[in-house]
Amino acid sequence: MSRSAHPAGPRHADVLTEGHYTAPPADLNALDEKVWARTVSRNDDGAVTVGGIEVTRLAEEFGTPAYFLDESDFRARCRAWADAFGPGADVFYAGKAFLSRAVVRWLKEEGLNLDVCSGGELTTALDAGMPAERIAFHGNNKTVAEIERAVQAGVGRIVLDSFQEIVRVSHIAQRLGKRQRVQIRVTVGVEAHTHEFIATAHEDQKFGIALAGGQAAEAVRRALTLDGLELIGIHSHIGSQIFDMAGFEVSARRVVQLLAEVRDEHGIELPEIDLGGGLGIAYTSDDDPREPHEIAKALGDIVTRECEAAGLATPRISVEPGRAIVGPTAFTLYEVGTIKHLEGLRTYVSVDGGMSDNIRTALYDAEYSVALVSRRSDAEPMLVRVVGKHCESGDIVVKDAFLPSDLAPGDLIAVPATGAYCRSMASNYNHALRPPVVAVRDGEARVIVRRETEEDLLRLDVG
Ligand code: LLP
Repeated sequence: MSRSAHPAGPRHADVLTEGHYTAPPADLNALDEKVWARTVSRNDDGAVTVGGIEVTRLAEEFGTPAYFLDESDFRARCRAWADAFGPGADVFYAGKAFLSRAVVRWLKEEGLNLDVCSGGELTTALDAGMPAERIAFHGNNKTVAEIERAVQAGVGRIVLDSFQEIVRVSHIAQRLGKRQRVQIRVTVGVEAHTHEFIATAHEDQKFGIALAGGQAAEAVRRALTLDGLELIGIHSHIGSQIFDMAGFEVSARRVVQLLAEVRDEHGIELPEIDLGGGLGIAYTSDDDPREPHEIAKALGDIVTRECEAAGLATPRISVEPGRAIVGPTAFTLYEVGTIKHLEGLRTYVSVDGGMSDNIRTALYDAEYSVALVSRRSDAEPMLVRVVGKHCESGDIVVKDAFLPSDLAPGDLIAVPATGAYCRSMASNYNHALRPPVVAVRDGEARVIVRRETEEDLLRLDVG
């Protein structure tokens, strides 16, 4: 990402020594459609609207901080992924990005499948009526109880993550008198270009079974021999927030090589491959994500080509986008509180949330955008750091951004592209109350996850 020099002008810009910043945008009131949900726009009065409703009204009704999710955008993105991959492939939405019962119902209605990675996500999916056969169950350390529940429910696939788990799932399936469809997750040895915490295909890490040294081939051998398992394919997930398709291509190629080895050794062609999720989205105007149809074409072409070369029938492909579906569809609305101008250093704009509703900046050094949304302003741009209200100096929401210099306490600002891994990674740090998620569509707003209350906190604290 670019770290361009800062032009003279905006307050304090000359003393900034770290962080990401670019020149102030030509118009601070403009909303870059790359980072904002599709129905977001600024009306003639200067207020921003989503789904036709002004954010000022939303703040009055639902309070701040709050996540507002553009339901029609979410549904449109689901359809774009499903259409791009077509009937010959399967799209599994990765529930870890954000899951609620409403989301499960939208996925079901839009024809997507669902990837869950915990008992809690599985419960949410089943409770909201997702057919079990459309659910994939993931995780590097699924508990026996979770596996039992998944097998009992009849999930469409369990993605096996270790040698021990191959045995565990086989035993459980036999005990329950079932034959469980499974995939084996392999690590293909790709160094994905993303933050080290969210890269998952290099060998030194906790996920999957390495292709290297014949370990994945051995896992296939065992899964084919043990009763209670129906091995349907191979799974690879290389990481998250990735823009470069090269890693996916290497991954696809190596997985197809394994399919060819399996055919040579066992005389069977595994019918499916799953290439995981991980497609990047735009958090700032500098990011240029790919459209689902480009991704589908790139992945489809490489798998087809490699299979032809290996003399294999093309397997059914599945993918697991989480962030790319829900990420861009929501923004977090905050009220501005204290504004501190540290002369010669920096301007801190404090909001009524922070690392408890968005840990990504602190954890991954993630970049975000921000805009004044309750009104229009033609004041000079001011370079600021948006921080939360937690007792920690790492409590940063947006490292460096431009906001109008007449910004004042009580203004509403919004951080776009917070649909993925924000509410789902939210915490109660400092006994913060986790914000609600409000779905907005066609002039109507409804709470899909309510705001936590102090009673919720006290109820868990049993004295
Ligand atoms: N499939 C598997 C097996 C995964 O482990 C993940 C993400 C996905 C699919 C979905 O990846 P996506 O399309 O959403 O990138 N908390 C981090 C991201 C962790 C992702 C973990 N696995 C963040 O906030 O960036």
